[in-house]
Order: sequence, then structure tokens, then C-alpha cells
Amino acid sequence: TTVFIPRDTTALSMGADDVVQALKFQSKAITDDITIVRNGSRGLFYLEPLVEVMTPKGRVAYGPVQVEDVESLLAQGLLDGNSDHPLYLGFTEEIPFLAKQQRLTFIRAGIIDPTNIDEYIDHSGFSGLTNAFAMLDQDNDNGRQAIVDEIKTSGLRGRGGAAFPAGIKWQTVLDAKAKAPEQQKYIVCNADEGDSGTFSDRLLMEADPFCLIEGMIIAGLAVGASQGYIYLRSEYPQAKNILEQAITIAYQQHYLGKDIQQSGQTFDLEVRIGAGAYICGEETSLLESLEGKRGLVRAKPPLPAIEGLFGQPTIVNNVISLASVPIIMEKGAQYYQDFGVGRSRGTLPFQLAGNIKQGGLVELAFGTSLADLVNDFGAGSYSGKPIKAIQVGGPLGAYLPEHQWPTELDYEAFAKMEAVLGHGGIVVFDDSVDMTAQARFAMEFCVAESCGKCTPCRIGSVRGVEVIDKMTKTHQERSEKSTEQLAELNTLLVDLCDTMTDGSLCAMGGMTPIPVRSILNHFSDDFVATTDKFN
Ligand code: NAI
Ligand code: SF4
Repeated sequence: TTVFIPRDTTALSMGADDVVQALKFQSKAITDDITIVRNGSRGLFYLEPLVEVMTPKGRVAYGPVQVEDVESLLAQGLLDGNSDHPLYLGFTEEIPFLAKQQRLTFIRAGIIDPTNIDEYIDHSGFSGLTNAFAMLDQDNDNGRQAIVDEIKTSGLRGRGGAAFPAGIKWQTVLDAKAKAPEQQKYIVCNADEGDSGTFSDRLLMEADPFCLIEGMIIAGLAVGASQGYIYLRSEYPQAKNILEQAITIAYQQHYLGKDIQQSGQTFDLEVRIGAGAYICGEETSLLESLEGKRGLVRAKPPLPAIEGLFGQPTIVNNVISLASVPIIMEKGAQYYQDFGVGRSRGTLPFQLAGNIKQGGLVELAFGTSLADLVNDFGAGSYSGKPIKAIQVGGPLGAYLPEHQWPTELDYEAFAKMEAVLGHGGIVVFDDSVDMTAQARFAMEFCVAESCGKCTPCRIGSVRGVEVIDKMTKTHQERSEKSTEQLAELNTLLVDLCDTMTDGSLCAMGGMTPIPVRSILNHFSDDFVATTDKFN
């Protein structure tokens, strides 16, 4: 019997290793014929540790399984996929949370053993790379352009948050001349996933690392770069282990290194670990950090695509952007482009977190509404209380009130309401949330994470915290002048937000006002600045 128990960070933190030990030990009395595969997570975090059993009709699931459940599971026929146990969930693929998704980038997540390259190949792995090689076969220059054109036609936009068209970035690097003496171009994968409530990069790296490796090799072939780096945040030790194992295997099997699969092409890949700074997810400070310097933001231009790592043309793409490349190259640009709405093509792995009953990863084509995502997939709040606000796009994203939840998940539709989709992080708050505290948190986060290079962000965020604190104090004192003073402080806060938006060098200072403004605009009744509170 084959049993699958994930080894991703979420499953491990929910006790997956203990369940494996208990199962190994307790099953001995029944049978020796048991193989435990440590797969990646399917992304159904509310069911972790999710134990799956292979049956003649397909994989069935049980979850969430704790050590103390193992005995009764075995007694009630776990190893035969028996349906009597209360934790039985039926066929994994038929669990509605999974069945309703459109998995393209995460097509193999949770299905295969992440470091088994044969399983990767059996599940269409490296098919995109094979197609890329075929394009290069005739001649390198035309072949490279053909790969870049494929990415352009697919409509893929940067999944890190800024949604810049990936194909145009690749074209810039392809056209840029590498400088002497190295004449080296680079592919840098931004795996410094710092947004609160996001985990899609981690899940991909822990569940299907060869997919990222394949995407990076194809990017290297497309622009003529033979060296790649994955800049990984230090908070992801399990992703580091799995990636490094996968890279070693890819070298052994000649998918990395010199003369990949006898194609005459070379691509080398290394993992580099960050040191816990949110700002090192900003591409230019990431490059500084990779070069061994302090993570200070560089002014743009020059764009990294022209002068990036060590001054050479560099593709800096997020994990999900690069991991979307294999399926585009396998199935063709049109296949990918057929998903989505407007200028938002393909799928986005949304990440449901915060006060939500069914948290986890939901990969869907753009165009579903936020309300459907939170209600259908998330099943409402974890506390059972009414949902009050949903923050989309990380700590620099807007808090959306109920009337905005029917909005389609689409980059442009979100921009219209001064919100962002960002990296697809969705954090849910019930009606016990203190919106003043959330506004203060946005400023406080910027104080902690600012690189300090420019004044609006470095000083502005400190002033932002002070102004909000002063408002709270004024409100508590309730003096005769409070109403007037609060109105003045409110104007000051709005001015400060405008200065930070207009005058900051990068998105850190530039976007911090987004959550603050969304609270001032949509949750004024809950914000301390409301003069009505005195009336
Ligand atoms: P940006 O708009 O300045 O740039 C987007 C990308 O396009 C960059 O790689 C830039 O170099 C490239 N680019 C722009 N014009 C180009 C051209 N003509 N040719 C080639 N490349 C070009 O945005 P930025 O500052 O890189 O990212 C901001 C976003 O980061 C925010 O929207 C936020 O959502 C996201 N973010 C994501 C986090 C995460 O954990 N994933 C954390 C914090 C922020
Ligand atoms: Fe640094 Fe903030 Fe300025 Fe960005 S906005 S360069 S993080 S000080």
C-alpha cells in the first residue's frame, strides 16, 4: 500500500512527521507492505496533515490527521482506503476545494514526491524544456526570439505583485548587450516571499521544485544567460533543503550544468539565502544583497534588465512567474492565454489566510470574484463572526469593505478601486478587527522594514505612527477641542500619505499609504479620526 503524507512546512508544523512515525510503528502489526511517500502539500492547509492512500480507483484522503487518530484509522481499514472513519474525505481530487480549482502552475503539487525526478518527468516534467530545445535547434538567435515570443503571447505578467509583462522583460534582457569582461547575463529568481499571508512561492518550491528549475533553464535559454540564482528567504529552511536536493539531482541527471541533455547549452543554478529583510524582496536591493552588499534600494533606471546583477543584463522574476513558464512552453502560449479576463491572462495562485475557515492555496483563472473565493473556497470566517475587511496583496494592499468584494480578481479592476492584487495574498478579518490598529500597523511595518534611503519613507512612516497615536490619545481625552484637533490630524495624515506616495523611491514607501487610505475611505466609522464619534 502506498500512503502519502506531505513534508511541506505547513504539514510539518501540524505534526506530519509524528503521524509518519506513528503510522510506521503501528502498521507493523498489520503488514510490512507499506510505502510512505513524502509528497508536497496539495494546498488544502485546513486539512493538514492530509494523509492519502492509493486505492485501485485512485487516491483517497483523510484529514486533518493527528497521531492519536492513527490507531483508529488503521483499525478501520486506512490501508484499504476504507470510508468508515470520520476523517475520511473521499477521493482527493473530488474534494470541492481542490476540484473547483484550475491548476496550471500547481498541476503537480501534492501529487508527486518533490525530489523524485522520474515522477516529475512522468507528469510531463521537462516537456516545456524539450520544446524550447526544439526551437533552438535551427539556430540560436531565432530560437531565442521564438521562446520570448511564446511568453509574450501567453500574456504572462509578473506574479511577484507588479504584474509587468514577463515577455517584455525577457525581450529587454535578450536585446541588451552583456558587458566585458564577463559578458554574462543572469536569471535571478526572487524567492524572498515577504508579504504577510502569502505562501505560494514556498508551496511551489516545496511541492514541485523541478518546475521552478525548468522555468529558470528555459529563461536562461531564451535570453542567453548561463547562470541562475534563487534568492531565498532564510525563513524557509524546508524549501532550501528540498531545492538543494532537487538541484543536486538535476545536475546528476544532466538537466543542469554543461551540455544539458546533449543540447550544447549550459545553465548553472545556485540557491542564495537572504537574512530576513522584507526590502530584499524589492528587486534592486535583492541584487545588492546577492552581490554581498547591504540591501539598499538602487534608483531605477537603469533597469535590472539592462544593468542588473554585477552590472549585467538580468531577468529578475518571482518564483510563480518562472514556474508558470514550463506549462506555457509545454501546451503553447494560446492554451495559457485562454484562461483569464481582460489583460489578466492565465491563473493566479490565491492564498487564503487570516480569519478564514478553510485556509490554503486556490489556483484559479483571473475573473472570479473575491466574494466567491472567500465564501465558496474559504467557507467564511474561522471565528464564525461576520467578515468585516479583506486585505488583498500583502501588508501594502488595501483593506476592502463588503461592497467591493463582488469585484473580479483582475489587475485592472483592482487598480480602479485603488487596490492591488499583488502576489495574491488574501487576509480575512472578522468584525472584531480594530481598523485604527491596522492603519497604525501599516506605518509601523514601514518603520521596521524601510531601507532608509529616502526621506518620505524613512521619516514619513515614523511620523505616520506618531500622528495615529496622537489621534488615539486625542480621542480618548475627549476635550472640547478634540473634534477640531482630530480633523486637523486627519488632514495631516492624508498629506503625509500623499507625500509618501509621490516622493518614495520604491514600492515600500510608495505603497504603505494604500492600506491607510483604504481605511480612511472605507472604514471611517471605525477609524479614530471620525469626528462623528463625538456627536
Ligand atoms: P515596478 O513596477 O517598478 O517593476 C516591475 C518589474 O518590471 C520590475 O522587474 C522592473 O524592473 C520591470 N520593468 C519595468 N519596466 C520595464 C521595461 N521597460 N523593460 C523591462 N523590465 C521592466 O514594481 P516593483 O517595485 O518591482 O514591484 C512592486 C510590487 O511588488 C508591488 O506591486 C507589490 O505588490 C509587490 N510586492 C511583493 C512582495 C512579495 O512578497 N511577493 C512583497 C512586497 C511587494
Ligand atoms: Fe528605501 Fe523606503 Fe525609499 Fe524604498 S521607499 S528606497 S524602502 S527608504
